[in-house]
Amino acid sequence: MRVTLLALLPLAMVIASSSKVNALNMGDLTQEDMEILDARNHWFERDLYAERRSVPSGPTSTSVSVVPRPTGTSAPGTGCTKSADCGTGNCERGVCKPVVSTGAQCYKNANCASFNCTNGKCVPVKGQGVKGETCNASDQCTAGSFCEYSKCNVKVASGGVCYKDVGCTSGNCVNKTCIEPASVSRGGRCTKTLQCKTNSYCGTNNRCAAKANKGGACYKTEGCAAGLTCRKKKCRA
Ligand SMILES: *[C@@H]1O[C@H](CO)[C@@H](O)[C@H](O)[C@H]1NC(C)=O
Ligand SMILES: *[C@@H]1O[C@H](CO)[C@@H](O)[C@H](O)[C@H]1NC(C)=O
Ligand SMILES: *[C@@H]1O[C@H](CO)[C@@H](O)[C@H](O)[C@H]1NC(C)=O
Repeated sequence: MRVTLLALLPLAMVIASSSKVNALNMGDLTQEDMEILDARNHWFERDLYAERRSVPSGPTSTSVSVVPRPTGTSAPGTGCTKSADCGTGNCERGVCKPVVSTGAQCYKNANCASFNCTNGKCVPVKGQGVKGETCNASDQCTAGSFCEYSKCNVKVASGGVCYKDVGCTSGNCVNKTCIEPASVSRGGRCTKTLQCKTNSYCGTNNRCAAKANKGGACYKTEGCAAGLTCRKKKCRA
């Protein structure tokens, strides 16, 4: 880590000595470069290393939404040289600033309440997005929740409304309804074979039906017992 930081120092010094920092394309700089810029007056301080500490890979507790970060005592609006100087843990170009919520713009992790700035937006740390937080992948949300139209929301129990498998506690969304796998008896309505009880499949008229044994009639392989294939309308080995 230290070696990498030292390797970046010439860059930081060049940028720091330039009066055109704001004209630089932020996209050319990494989060860490940004921290170095913010800390440029004190870049030799050991505290800088603390700023570069990586976020702990989150436990999937449903109550955790804010990742611990180094913080100080300076109030928003007062001067700072590094994020750890600020009560908010966010130093932006020499001034302590409040942190922003998921979905808001950012240029480094320290800007975000979630401590994860990805592609210029604050996003939850993996597995820590609580209900209502902006997301664009379900693994950003806590265990037991998922990304529903860009916001983390809790998964739905069987019988509830859904639009994708990950939105159901059972992991099965069928016909916009969360279902338990293997829960429909023969003759019951289905749209997927996984809904039907063991040794049955979702057949014609969307009804669960018994699978055929070797030599039995079929129109698709799902309709044949394990290990058999449907060919020429018969289940064959
Ligand atoms: C959101 O998803 C899009 C495409 O799926 C991806 O390009 C983008 O990087 C994602 N943004 C975040 C912040 O994860
Ligand atoms: C930050 O968010 C991105 C995009 O969702 C994700 O790939 C990355 O793992 C997250 N970082 C952490 C530390 O969880
Ligand atoms: C899908 O659900 C609707 C009502 O929610 C129902 O009328 C329809 O029969 C269902 N389709 C199947 C294939 O189960």
